[in-house]
Amino acid sequence: MTNIILLGPPGAGKGTQARRLVEERGLVQLSTGDMLREAKDSGTEMGKIVADVMARGDLVTDEIVIGLIEEKLDGEKVGGFIFDGFPRTLAQADALGALLARKGETLDAVIEMRVDDAALVDRISGRFTCGACGEVYHDTTKPTKIEGTCDECGSTDLKRRADDNAESLRQRLMEYYKKTSPLIGYYYHAGNLATVDGLAAIDDVAKSVAAVLDR
Ligand code: AP5
Repeated sequence: MTNIILLGPPGAGKGTQARRLVEERGLVQLSTGDMLREAKDSGTEMGKIVADVMARGDLVTDEIVIGLIEEKLDGEKVGGFIFDGFPRTLAQADALGALLARKGETLDAVIEMRVDDAALVDRISGRFTCGACGEVYHDTTKPTKIEGTCDECGSTDLKRRADDNAESLRQRLMEYYKKTSPLIGYYYHAGNLATVDGLAAIDDVAKSVAAVLDR
């Protein structure tokens, strides 16, 4: 079983690389951002609670996101998980370690995707996704082949995220540096941190990620 964490600021390319790993290695992507957006869109009690928090760019409580991950890990047996956007705090990292240990599993790699802030603003402001299959696009670096139509599933339901605006991004970055970046030291100390150049082209980042997993 291969369990990996993709760690990086908003827009670093975690979701983009996670989707490739799902396709190429049959791993299961666990994105807490996607799970929270699903809860928000389906209007559940939890969705109502998290909607404002997410729109502001703040972090949702540890209790909620740890609960979401625990539910998924307790599900069916799979070849491995890609944790995308989780953990984001030291408490979440401790909880993940305990959950994996309880299942007798290990964390194989933590891949930090390093990208500078200027590139993140550009990536976030140009991002759009397919509402049907979740494929991630960008106005200039990864446009659809036919304007307005998803390359993967043919849907025309292409949308931009409510929190992809300058103000929310500033807050998301602040939250990342304050609460999530300490995880770089945490996993370095644990001996499973690898850093890749997230500024490279999507295919080149994928090669660097593969090199870490195949080492
Ligand atoms: P979440 O959905 O996790 O958002 P995020 O971490 O801000 O990350 P993004 O999804 O914005 O970026 P990404 O790194 O996946 O980049 P992508 O591949 O899309 O979280 C949203 C919110 O939910 C949080 O703010 C918080 O409120 C809450 N939340 C979620 N998890 C939580 C947790 N664990 N605890 C508490 N709260 C939580 O790429 C971005 C763009 O760049 C795309 O357009 C893509 O095409 C393009 N691109 C990607 N790679 C490249 C490349 N190499 N070169 C050029 N362009 C590229």
